[in-house]
Amino acid sequence: MDRTTPPAIRVAGLGRDFGDRSAVHQLDLQVNAGEVYGLLGPNGSGKSTTVRMLTTMLRPSRGTAHVAGADITRDPETVRRRIGIVLQETALDPLMSARELLYLQGRLQSFTTRQARDRGAELLASFSMEKFADTPVSRLSGGQRRRVDLAVALVQRPLVLFLDEPTTGLDPVSRRRLWEEIRTLSAGHRVTVLLTTQYLEEADQLCDRVGILREGRLATTPKGESAA
Ligand SMILES: Nc1ncnc2c1ncn2[C@@H]1O[C@H](COP(=O)(O)OP(=O)(O)O)[C@@H](O)[C@H]1O
Ligand SMILES: [Mg+2]
Repeated sequence: MDRTTPPAIRVAGLGRDFGDRSAVHQLDLQVNAGEVYGLLGPNGSGKSTTVRMLTTMLRPSRGTAHVAGADITRDPETVRRRIGIVLQETALDPLMSARELLYLQGRLQSFTTRQARDRGAELLASFSMEKFADTPVSRLSGGQRRRVDLAVALVQRPLVLFLDEPTTGLDPVSRRRLWEEIRTLSAGHRVTVLLTTQYLEEADQLCDRVGILREGRLATTPKGESAA
């Protein structure tokens, strides 16, 4: 790790209320560039709320966070340009194929037609998706669809990637395969990853550091690290 590299994610006192209930209290955490950080917690513990705040989709009620060098409330557009997001619910158009979705994403990022096509082909190859590249995503398996989600999130070469429960609902083989892909991203492409999970095993296998979220509070962080 280059010691001069600023943290990829720095969160200070971040919280969000819904009505008089606090979904996330006062979160403090830091993720270093190149790390895979896991936010582990049961249903309703505030994982998605945290991800939605950090990806600028939801305004915090309090606190601040810097993601990929920009402030999530003061400069959300810069944050959005520098991150990739895979949400819990897949947002893919079921009638489109992986190749079309990758191309569309490139064009949305202002790539030229040529750049969008080339970047799509590169990602189809690196995720071994050529065999089903032209099949509508509605006809793909859950594991294949998740790979498409991941590839689409990588089109713009994000500095930080957010994955909200990326393997929930997948069979064990697809899960392991996705773990491999996330590891490769982190090691080979130096993307910083923040993922959420309900599975201790997943956090253990995949993450450099883990924070445990309980009822909107970061409880403890195993592997000998402090939360802040
Ligand atoms: N839009 C919303 N309106 C009201 N309550 C919400 C909303 N989003 C989440 N919550 C509540 O906040 C808490 C945390 O939810 P969430 O962040 O989705 O947890 P997780 O992703 O860990 O399952 C839950 O009690 C949930 O019901
Ligand atoms: Mg969730």
